[in-house]
Amino acid sequence: MSFNKIPRVPSSEITPESQYYTRRSWLGMVGLAGVSMVSPSLLGGGVVPPQDRWPQGKKGPNDTDEKPSTFKEITTYNNFYEFGTDKSDPEENAGSFKPRPWTVKIDGLVKKPATFALDDLLKGLTQEDRIYRMRCVEGWSMVIPWRGVMLADIMKKAQPLPKAKYVAFETVYRPDEMVGQRRPYLQWPYVEGLRMDEAMHPLTLLATGLYGKDLPNQNGAPLRLVTPWKYGFKGIKSIVRISFVEQEPPTTWNIAAPNEYGFYSNVNPDVDHPRWSQKTERRIGEFGKRKTLPFNGYAEQVASMYAGMDLKQNY
Ligand code: MTE
Repeated sequence: MSFNKIPRVPSSEITPESQYYTRRSWLGMVGLAGVSMVSPSLLGGGVVPPQDRWPQGKKGPNDTDEKPSTFKEITTYNNFYEFGTDKSDPEENAGSFKPRPWTVKIDGLVKKPATFALDDLLKGLTQEDRIYRMRCVEGWSMVIPWRGVMLADIMKKAQPLPKAKYVAFETVYRPDEMVGQRRPYLQWPYVEGLRMDEAMHPLTLLATGLYGKDLPNQNGAPLRLVTPWKYGFKGIKSIVRISFVEQEPPTTWNIAAPNEYGFYSNVNPDVDHPRWSQKTERRIGEFGKRKTLPFNGYAEQVASMYAGMDLKQNY
């Protein structure tokens, strides 16, 4: 059996990176004769490239057990218009972006408005590993092993006032480092928003990493939003400001094309985009199409937040 024909092991059997390297050196010592005697599952480390060696499978009740997209897929096929409009532009142009030092301003209707150094903002909060599906509005999808904190935990630190009904987010504005911001493809800085209950929902993360490592610049370093039941564009990247407000805040894609992108942007196979159907999606790395699920498969967790709302009007 040639090395690359050894079956890919289930992610639950993948060993942590530290053990993996030990195992590799051990295999090196026993040499090829030794290799032929060990079971394929022991060889898993040699088959799955090191950067794809996380996650170790479904852990939490909301984790998907679908195969994660590879690190390469997740980090070379991106939307981040601040670095250009092609999928390969962010990886090519984000190399000199500086995600540290970083501060996040929390303001608006809160008891404790403040500007936090990123480490202070995250201090005392649990970093969670969560594997979520991501459905882009353009009709493709991925499975991404995120690392991050629950947005709800950050909100508890800031103590929003009862008048706060929405949370508004803003991306950094640095045309010197972000070549796309020198052109008016979109209105800069990129902005997004959530309703309070959506922001407090346990699925909602502020991601700091993926595949167990700090976020690559092209994925929104050092801090980006993740709401897996909404189209990917709600996942605003490189956040510098979180404001608590009373009125529904403006959002970048709604400003750009209000009849195409609404405030809610919940994944909904029954509401077509004006220029294409949303019924199916292509998982990056696969050939066929999959059926798109309501709320991207998270209906059980989130549908009740929209009870009584007309989701065709509130797209
Ligand atoms: N955030 C900012 N600031 N600028 C962007 O252009 N693109 C959005 C979203 N967040 C975008 C952004 C879109 S359209 C998608 S699909 C996701 O980021 C893509 O995230 P990924 O590149 O990490 O997969």
